[in-house]
Amino acid sequence: MLGNLKPQAPDKILALMGEFRADPRQGKIDLGVGVYKDATGHTPIMRAVHAAEQRMLETETTKTYAGLSGEPEFQKAMGELILGDGLKSETTATLATVGGTGALRQALELARMANPDLRVFVSDPTWPNHVSIMNFMGLPVQTYRYFDAETRGVDFEGMKADLAAAKKGDMVLLHGCCHNPTGANLTLDQWAEIASILEKTGALPLIDLAYQGFGDGLEEDAAGTRLIASRIPEVLIAASCSKNFGIYRERTGCLLALCADAATRELAQGAMAFLNRQTYSFPPFHGAKIVSTVLTTPELRADWMAELEAVRSGMLRLREQLAGELRDLSGSDRFGFVAEHRGMFSRLGATPEQVKRIKEEFGIYMVGDSRINIAGLNDNTIPILARAIIEVGV
Ligand code: LMR
Repeated sequence: MLGNLKPQAPDKILALMGEFRADPRQGKIDLGVGVYKDATGHTPIMRAVHAAEQRMLETETTKTYAGLSGEPEFQKAMGELILGDGLKSETTATLATVGGTGALRQALELARMANPDLRVFVSDPTWPNHVSIMNFMGLPVQTYRYFDAETRGVDFEGMKADLAAAKKGDMVLLHGCCHNPTGANLTLDQWAEIASILEKTGALPLIDLAYQGFGDGLEEDAAGTRLIASRIPEVLIAASCSKNFGIYRERTGCLLALCADAATRELAQGAMAFLNRQTYSFPPFHGAKIVSTVLTTPELRADWMAELEAVRSGMLRLREQLAGELRDLSGSDRFGFVAEHRGMFSRLGATPEQVKRIKEEFGIYMVGDSRINIAGLNDNTIPILARAIIEVGV
């Protein structure tokens, strides 16, 4: 029977990781997968995460099953991290999930349970796995304009026009901050305009919040999400702890369902617990416990925030350095967008042929749409990348 299986195209981002590893060249540069790396190319365990794990080792006495929807402590800490004072516990359903991707999957499943004819609007472009998961689930996908290839900023007029076509019963997937793959983000005023469109259309927003703390700061990166939450009666939020806690392999995330009233919250919470049970039963505990320990222990929380801030400002510095280097080499400001973008990624706007040449001639790996991971750079590699970009004629 298994011989009937069709070969699956490998995920492009993950395939690139393998290609990079197999490249024997000294001095190769990995700007592919969205994983934070320090200047030495290492992905460190954050200090507060390490300390939390040490405490857990000393205090945990059992490995028996825990909550099907996650532990209340984790749910509350995440709700507060994302929504701040705007968290309304009595109308918010929360589910611990297998990473941010698990939260996205459960959000799509939940919305489809509520509306079997669900159609999802996604930005053009978006994280390729968004579309891949939706295709796999058989969900109709509609793109909305997002990235202006000329300015490398947001095509906001196009975005608004396309989102106005969404209807009640549709879902609109928005990136809460640090848009992946482009790095181009909405201003708070633009978020307010999107909220007005959602009010008018009645479409359900699903906010993918995978990089809170990597853009303009923990609070600032949640501002768009909080604005939507304050104006739209039903909102889904899929959050990842992979990046801001650096616990990628622990698979820690959560889905928040903001509901119009307590009775709907009850329904949503029940459906979400059911979805976990049907998919993988209990969600992973370890990473969620790390997160709740860090967030509820004042000294660990302060240290985590300080380290996250250092990571964020380090990436901003790299952005400015790269933009400066490109300004010098090109004699123009046309790469100024690199310093304007936020988060881990920037889409350079190179053609697939140019991306291929940069890989083959310079040993620099970026995703085929010319997305670079800023955190893959350091003082030594920035001039090499800048030279490659100019030499292939981007
Ligand atoms: C990325 O976009 O590189 C990350 O979100 C990692 C992944 O799973 O693709």
